Amino acid sequence: ITADQLNEAGHLLIGGCDAIDLAHEYQTPLVVYDVSQIRQQIRAFKRVFEENDVSYAVSYASKAFAAVAMYQVVNQEGAYIDVVSGGEMYTAIQAGFPMERASFHGNNKSYDELVMAVKHHVGVIVIDNFHEIDLLSQVLNELDAKTKVMIRITPGISAHTNKYIQTGQVDSKFGFDLASGQADEALQKVLANPRMDLIGLHAHIGSQIFEVAGFEGVANKLVEVADHWQKKFGYQAKVINVGGGFGIRYVKDDQPLRPEQFVDAIIKAIKKAVQPTNLGKPAIWIEPGRSIVGPAGYNLYTVGSRKDLPGLKSYVTVDGGMGDNIRPALYQAKYETVLVSDPQAPFTEHVRLAGKYCESGDILCQDQALPKTKPGDVLAMLDTGAYGYSMASNYNRNPRPAVVFAENGHSQVVIKRETFADLTHLDQPYEQN
Ligand code: LLP
Repeated sequence: ITADQLNEAGHLLIGGCDAIDLAHEYQTPLVVYDVSQIRQQIRAFKRVFEENDVSYAVSYASKAFAAVAMYQVVNQEGAYIDVVSGGEMYTAIQAGFPMERASFHGNNKSYDELVMAVKHHVGVIVIDNFHEIDLLSQVLNELDAKTKVMIRITPGISAHTNKYIQTGQVDSKFGFDLASGQADEALQKVLANPRMDLIGLHAHIGSQIFEVAGFEGVANKLVEVADHWQKKFGYQAKVINVGGGFGIRYVKDDQPLRPEQFVDAIIKAIKKAVQPTNLGKPAIWIEPGRSIVGPAGYNLYTVGSRKDLPGLKSYVTVDGGMGDNIRPALYQAKYETVLVSDPQAPFTEHVRLAGKYCESGDILCQDQALPKTKPGDVLAMLDTGAYGYSMASNYNRNPRPAVVFAENGHSQVVIKRETFADLTHLDQPYEQN
C-alpha cells in the first residue's frame, strides 16, 4: 500500500472511496473492485499489441470474475471475453455483450450449451475433443448454421505452478494431443465440415505462471503446429491463441514481470518463429483472467473473536472465510491483509487470520503481520479479485457477500448481498408419502 492509496484520515482508498465508509455502508464481508485498475490493465494489454503492430484480441477469461457489470466494463473497453459455461454465456448476454466478441471454451460442452452458443452467434467455439466435433456438427446441421471454430491443442508444456491449475502438460484433460496424431485428425475432421470455419489454434499452459519461458514455449509450439498444418494439409491459420495465465504479485516474495511484459515476450517469440515459415502475420489472441481482475479486487472483513494460545500464534477471526475465498484452503494461496484504518501502521504481531466457517482448514492466512486489532476493526485482504467471488459458495449456509464497484470516488453495488431468504429460495419441502 502506497501513500497515494490513503486519504487524509490515513484510511485505505479503493477507487477513490474510503474503505471504512464502504464497509459501513455495504457491510462486511464485502468484495470491492477498483474499476479503473481493471480498465488500466486491459488498456496496457492492448497497448503492447499496438506497439508491436500486430492484429490481436485481448479476451478476458471471465471465469476469474463474471457479473453483468464486469461484462459491461469489458465491453466499454472494447475487449473480448471467453466463457466456459452456459451460465457465463447467459450472464454476458444479459449484459448486452456483443457475443461475436466471445469465445466459448470447455472440455465437455453440452448439446444445450452449443445450441445456445450458435443461436447467440458466439464469435468462436474452441473445440476441445472429438465428441465435441460430432456434437457441434449435429447442432450446426439442426440449426442450419455455420460457426467459427478454433482447435485447442495440448502443448506438452508443464508450467511451474500448483498442479490443480496446470493445464498444458501432455497428461491433461484439455485439448488434442500432438504426439499421437490426435490434433492432425481433429484438423482434418474440422476442415471436412463446411459448417465450421477454422480460424486458428489455441493452447493454454496454466495459471499464475511467473516464467517467461513457458509462454515462449507455447508460442513456439503453436507456430510449429500451424506450420506443420500448412505444409502437410495446406491449412493457413489466421489466429494463434496463447491462452492466459500471467502471474500476479500476491505477497512480497512474488516478483513477476508486469502482465503486459509476458505478452510482449509472446509477441516477439511468435514474430520470430513465423519468420522462416509461410504463415504470414497471424493475429495473436490472449486470454488473461487473473491479471485483469486480481489486483483490482479487495475483500473487506470485520474482526470478531480472537484466541490466544501460550507459545503459539494467535487466531484472529473475521466475518468471512472459505465461502468467499476458497483459494487459501484449496491451493495454499497466500495474500496480504492490511488494517483499513491505517494500512501503514507498524505491525506488532504475527497472527493466523481465520475465517468463520466450521472447519479447521478455514484459515485465510497462516501468518499475517498486523498491528494489534480489536473486534470491529476492518481488514482488507488485497488482490482477491480473481477466482475469489467467482469460486464463492454457500458453505455452512452463509450468504455470499455483496460486490461493489468503486471508481472516481463513487461506489455502486453490482451484485447484491445474498439474504437468508435467497438461501432457501430453491429448497422444496419434502412431502412424506
Ligand atoms: N484460458 C483458458 C483456456 C483457461 O483455462 C484459463 C484459466 C484462462 C484462459 C485464464 O487464466 P488466468 O489468466 O486467469 O490465469 N481457480 C484457479 C485458476 C484456474 C484457472 C483456470 N483456467 C485459481 O484460483 O488459481
